[in-house]
Amino acid sequence: MSSSFTTRPVDPDLRLGPVPIVTTGPTDDPDRWAAEHRGLLRSLVTEHGAVMVRGLGLHDVAGTASVFTRLATGLMVETEAFAARRSYGTGVYSSSTWPPNRTMCMHHELSYALRFPGLMQFACLVSPSRGGATALADSPTVLAALPEALVERFEHEGWLLARNYNDDIGASWTEAFGTDDRTAVEDYCRAAAIEFVWQPDGGLSTRQRRSAVIRHPLTGRRCWFNQMAFLSEWTLDPEIREYLVDLYGSDGLPFNTRYGNGDSISRDTVDLINQVYQAHTVREPWQDGDLLLVDNLRTAHSREAYEGPRDVMVALADPVHLHDCSPTVEVMTR
Ligand SMILES: [Fe+2]
Repeated sequence: MSSSFTTRPVDPDLRLGPVPIVTTGPTDDPDRWAAEHRGLLRSLVTEHGAVMVRGLGLHDVAGTASVFTRLATGLMVETEAFAARRSYGTGVYSSSTWPPNRTMCMHHELSYALRFPGLMQFACLVSPSRGGATALADSPTVLAALPEALVERFEHEGWLLARNYNDDIGASWTEAFGTDDRTAVEDYCRAAAIEFVWQPDGGLSTRQRRSAVIRHPLTGRRCWFNQMAFLSEWTLDPEIREYLVDLYGSDGLPFNTRYGNGDSISRDTVDLINQVYQAHTVREPWQDGDLLLVDNLRTAHSREAYEGPRDVMVALADPVHLHDCSPTVEVMTR
């Protein structure tokens, strides 16, 4: 954490550190406080990439969902999820189901979709006894720290996400697409530039190419915006990867990533990307009742391993289309 803190006249309770924190002071009406400070919070997110709000005392689903709605311009339904969530209504969810003792690596929510949230909202109803931060990394900083040749290749080719939906691991295709109607899934895939193949056992295989680097539509800044490291086979624990390859074959993993031309990405490259993320990670440990707003294009987030109960609600807000972010590649695969 930096030791330099700045106080703004516009709000005496703003502390600018690696994660900017606004402290509300006593309030018994979080919804009203959010309405009154909506403009300030949204401008802080645009300027800094994220802001934490401490003191709202968010503790129940209905009150938190109301604050999420108040601060967003619109909430969006998640499709193509890779891990299950509990839904609390349109656009409001639990955090993803993921083993507590495993870190969920840095990613931008739905960066493999054509339409993704511009704003992620998180609220901590119950903080864990140890760990469990929603950590952050600034994507223009990550981009600048990656080797030039690597960035050039991904900018030129984009990245591929290959998925194999089954009923054993991760979200099934019915969960990911929110329907058990195969025709509806096919229509979605065609509209979203996703190649698909139905497997004889009823499973579904998909492949989609996306831009690895985008330009932020509000600020114009270039952002490293993808999930190629997080969803790579090389980010899995070695024993889990070995087990899955034995079970499904190397082309049948639940998800994996490639260069945009279909070439494999080496373990060294994935390790390097994850190391750069780690070197630029900042975190503010959760306290009960906290709210965290994250610019999903500018800022990657992770979920660190934890102990004890942890209840974090999530809203996917302010949808943005890839077309509006100056993508560097065509989305159709070759
Ligand atoms: Fe996430």
